[in-house]
Amino acid sequence: MIFRRFFVANSKNFAYLIGDEKSRQAVVVDPSGVITEIVAVVEKEKLNLKYIINTHSHPDHTAGNRELAAKTGAKILKHEAGVHGVDLKLKDGDVISLDGTSIKIIHTPGHTPDSICLLVDNKLLTGDTLFVGECGRTDLPGGNSANLYDSLFGKIIKLDDAVEIYPGHDYGPRPDSTLGFEKKNNYTLKLRSKEEFMHFMQE
Ligand SMILES: [Fe+2]
Repeated sequence: MIFRRFFVANSKNFAYLIGDEKSRQAVVVDPSGVITEIVAVVEKEKLNLKYIINTHSHPDHTAGNRELAAKTGAKILKHEAGVHGVDLKLKDGDVISLDGTSIKIIHTPGHTPDSICLLVDNKLLTGDTLFVGECGRTDLPGGNSANLYDSLFGKIIKLDDAVEIYPGHDYGPRPDSTLGFEKKNNYTLKLRSKEEFMHFMQE
């Protein structure tokens, strides 16, 4: 698998490129405005960029969607709860095929209604649902701490401890982690009841 990460210094956003080594089909997750760098890799690696997938609709993540789509012909994919600027809508459990590499969509509302995580091989791209040492905020429009609880404790922490975490921002002590490490060390993943978590998120 081809896996590249791009960093935006001012917003600390991460964009990712995932490609299949044999088929050369690829997706970009959250272009985040780094279009020149992404296109350079697509051209150098001779990739067919099929899709641009947004982990959610916040503009720091979707920046450059249209420009990248125009330059590559890629389709823009978002969860069906995200209504603007989308070519194809995703739902929980969908699998994106790169003809050799598969990406599973996990709907994880809470930070926004349309938040998703993407599981590819042993890597989980978590957008703004889970960061290294933190979780996404729920106090922006559409945020919901009860939904984030269900996403984190009902879906994410049930994945294998060895799963690697690749967040949408560089907010932690290092750029990526493992789920096992986060379960032990991320204070937002401390075991709580839903009520305790909702109260904790308001503090
Ligand atoms: Fe966000």
